[in-house]
Amino acid sequence: MKIVREDNGNVLLVLKECVPVSQIKSNDVDASFEKHVPQMKKIDNSVEVFVNHVMEEDHYIEWILVDYGSRQIIEHFSPGDVPKIVVEYQDGMKAYSYCNKHSLWISGEVF
Ligand SMILES: [Fe+2]
Repeated sequence: MKIVREDNGNVLLVLKECVPVSQIKSNDVDASFEKHVPQMKKIDNSVEVFVNHVMEEDHYIEWILVDYGSRQIIEHFSPGDVPKIVVEYQDGMKAYSYCNKHSLWISGEVF
C-alpha cells in the first residue's frame, strides 16, 4: 500500500501500482512528532487511535487510516471534531494520520 500526493494536491491511496508515482514519506515534515503521530492504545480487543492535534479551521487532521495489511479503514474529520477512532485489534496493524499542513504520519507500536 502507498499513499501519494499528486501535483494538484490530491492525496491517493494506491492499492496496486501500475506506473511509478511519488510516495509521501511519513513523519518527514519538520513539525511536532507528538502532535501528529497516531497514538494506539489497546483496550481489551479494541484499539483507540488518537491524534493529539489541534482541530482548527485552517489546521487539522483530515483523516486517520488504519492498515491491517489486507484491508484498511479510513475515517475523515472536520475542524472541531475529535481525531479519534476505535477499531478492532490485530497484530501488526498500523495507523496513519494526515494533517492538512504537515502531511502524513505513521504510528508507533500499540500500547
Ligand atoms: Fe499539523
